[in-house]
Amino acid sequence: MSASLPAEIETHRQPEHEINPQFLERWSPRSFSDQEVTEDALLSLFEAARWAPSGSNNQPWRFIVARTPEQLAKFHTFISPFNLVWCEKAPVLTLIFSHTKTPKGTDNPSHAFDAGTAWGYLALEANNQGLVTHAMGGFDADKARETLQIPADYQLHAVIAIGHRGPVEALPENLQEREIPSGRREVSEFIYAGQFE
Ligand SMILES: Cc1cc2nc3c(=O)[nH]c(=O)nc-3n(C[C@H](O)[C@H](O)[C@H](O)COP(=O)(O)O)c2cc1C
Repeated sequence: MSASLPAEIETHRQPEHEINPQFLERWSPRSFSDQEVTEDALLSLFEAARWAPSGSNNQPWRFIVARTPEQLAKFHTFISPFNLVWCEKAPVLTLIFSHTKTPKGTDNPSHAFDAGTAWGYLALEANNQGLVTHAMGGFDADKARETLQIPADYQLHAVIAIGHRGPVEALPENLQEREIPSGRREVSEFIYAGQFE
């Protein structure tokens, strides 16, 4: 199975058990090219997010999409400087947030869990579309809420940069060395047999 993996992935990511290669091939680069993301490809990402499971099928995830220079400039005002250095080149930025209330008005205990699933689906579909994604928690949530006029009963989670991959050399030097797929803990480190140990 690993024979079909791009060399860059295979060098850094070896699965312990057989899985679909899409899980290994998705990673979070920081260099974006200026190639446009088509509307069709972008909508496929949100189509994937749409089919995420959620508590009571409440589908609490929401996305605000920035694609025009004006919309992107607005997003740039609340993204932390460390992230702005690289994500300023991303042609699409989207904020993922979720409704903390159910349609009945009660607290929805799974809104964040469900939004996380939607982000995972979106990121995998981006890979299928030949795109890359990079989520960022490094942004000023209060400023984003105010700028984008998001009501108090929604929780902001992350800004996601979406685009085509750019050359490593286009990044500042300190980020060039980090432009490689990361590894993971072993499965045995996060599963427990029968009870917590
Ligand atoms: C919720 C969340 C917040 C993150 N925040 C940042 C961030 O602020 N800046 C950054 O460069 N990467 C950020 N990342 C990217 C992670 O560091 C990255 O996903 C992780 O190291 C695993 O690497 P991979 O996505 O390449 O597999 C974030 C990822 C997630 C899911």
